Amino acid sequence: MTRSVSVVLGLVLALGGCSIADEQPEEQLAPSGQAVRAEALYAENCASCHDEQVAGAPSREALEGMTPAAITAALTTGVMREQGNALDRVDRFILAEYLGDGAAEADVAVDYCADRLQFAGAPLWNRWGVDKRNSRFQTEQSAGLSASDIPELELAWAFGFPGAQRARSQPAVTREAIFTGSQSGRVYALDTETGCAWWTYEAGAEVRNAPVIAEASNGRPETLYFGDVDGRVHAVDTLTGEEKWTRSIKDHPDGTITGSISLHDGILFVPMSSTEVISAYADDYECCTFRGGVTALNAKNGEHLWRWYTTGKPTNAGKSSKGVDILAPSGAPVWSTPTIDVERGLLYVGTGENYSSPANDKSDAIVALDLKSGRERWITQTIAGDSWNAACGRDPRANCPEEDGPDFDFGAPPILTTLASGKDILLAGQKSGEIFGLDPDDDGQILWRRRVGMGGFNGGIHWGMASDGQTLWVGIADTPGNRFAEGPPRPGIHAFEAATGKPLWSRIEPPTCPEVSYACMTALSAPPTAIRGAIFAGAHNGRLLAYSDKDGAVLWKQETNRAFETVNGVEAKGGTIDSAGVVVAGGMVIVNSGYDKFGEIPGNVLLVYRVKKD
Ligand code: HEC
Repeated sequence: MTRSVSVVLGLVLALGGCSIADEQPEEQLAPSGQAVRAEALYAENCASCHDEQVAGAPSREALEGMTPAAITAALTTGVMREQGNALDRVDRFILAEYLGDGAAEADVAVDYCADRLQFAGAPLWNRWGVDKRNSRFQTEQSAGLSASDIPELELAWAFGFPGAQRARSQPAVTREAIFTGSQSGRVYALDTETGCAWWTYEAGAEVRNAPVIAEASNGRPETLYFGDVDGRVHAVDTLTGEEKWTRSIKDHPDGTITGSISLHDGILFVPMSSTEVISAYADDYECCTFRGGVTALNAKNGEHLWRWYTTGKPTNAGKSSKGVDILAPSGAPVWSTPTIDVERGLLYVGTGENYSSPANDKSDAIVALDLKSGRERWITQTIAGDSWNAACGRDPRANCPEEDGPDFDFGAPPILTTLASGKDILLAGQKSGEIFGLDPDDDGQILWRRRVGMGGFNGGIHWGMASDGQTLWVGIADTPGNRFAEGPPRPGIHAFEAATGKPLWSRIEPPTCPEVSYACMTALSAPPTAIRGAIFAGAHNGRLLAYSDKDGAVLWKQETNRAFETVNGVEAKGGTIDSAGVVVAGGMVIVNSGYDKFGEIPGNVLLVYRVKKD
């Protein structure tokens, strides 16, 4: 490619004037030169994925909704750093300025609260799964809401995340504050009544996961923990937002933290995932070397305690059709928050697919690790031989492994629950559309297994399920496009007897319009949340629903795919609800809406519903 001098000039001026610009008068800039250059860069380096939405790449339109700063961040420190590295700084700049809408809002955009934050009690919703066992079943007391209140719920306030195209950090909640991360990397502590900010914290990279709160000996919140996409764990004072420590757990250039951190007995368990699945798309990339796993850190100071990997060290496993080395085993990321079994001293982890061939025995598995040492106790692999990366697709590229799928991760953590009989069981759900009951007292033996949905890249079961020990509630996405899908799509909510997997009821929701579009899909990819009497779930089309736990009858429905007025004055709209589930706490129903991957509907809003006060 040749670069015209005028274009270099224009961008250097914009970069703030380094020396090469000085000799050239500004008028020589061809106004469209930069655009032509940017289009060419986009066509050569970005279009193959972003126009086709390979591996969930946001659409070009979604990229155009981002600010130049956010695009630059993605290309330098974010999920696109591998792709950004292939370009020089100038080209990255041209692209970001051209694609981004330029209307960068003030980064913080909040009204700070007048007082200082004080806590009257323990957290009401903590952790991704509300408890260490990941039940996603909220107690009546912490919910502050019963099923009969649900029809009276209305929007209390909305908060807009500036410059964001998605909102996927499921909040942690106390009576006083809602703690949530954001795409820009800012973490907010928002007042539950008014949405004013008690404090904000800059993580430096997107925070996608649900924060976890450590309590002091008096039960009051003390430290907030979360991970960012650049692989750093942050420990922050819950009262002030001041940093206590940060530590990177990254041991691979593409390493990232997507799943939420779990916490027990002073130890943080950090799930390790990566974007190498995307890097593999390039034919000259030596695929692959990322090893999924869990890192344990001392919660006090971030000291490294142990690390467990889903694969051994990758070694040469042949050559791709383009003659580039293949390295294996690799992949098997951990997307979800680990589940803690206090009684047995175990940590349960769901794993994803391998990236290169041959696949190993720890992908698509539920694995039990010793909490203290990280040593493996047992592995239950439900699908063997799953190897997949972004090079697979309609037109597979050189790095697509022989297995070519099915990409049926456990994106959802297993739920540990106690049955009416007093026996414990592990309930697991997979992107394949299958659910499982495993025996924690018999090395994870499969007690029952059942197909619920046809399966798909967004699940089957994608991010989670909910259970009270009697019933297992399963949201099914079943979006089309995975050639391993089995049977008809069954998007909606389904209930099963936890002890046996026996079906109790299903509520399948047909798409809301005839064409195949995420704006119409009723897919439940985000995890459901249960309280006594009701299940809350959010759909791809932006609908927020509450179902009766008896039969799936719809108790309440809200449209979040629309514009909202926000307490912080940021222009905001909802879109797809994905990845993060609904939080019910202190009489509030809280949800993040907007998700820009896989062709879903972008958005940037946090919504808080309460029972009408007359
Ligand atoms: C190999 C496929 C591929 C190529 C090539 C690629 N992208 Fe991406 N891109 C993706 C995927 C997949 C995601 C979503 C990743 C995620 O969120 O985990 C993404 C996300 C992004 C995002 C959003 C990041 C964020 O934090 O939300 C931006 C911005 C972006 N890409 C820009 C670019 C630009 C500019 C180029 C060209 C220089 C490019 N990408 C090339 C696959 C690709």
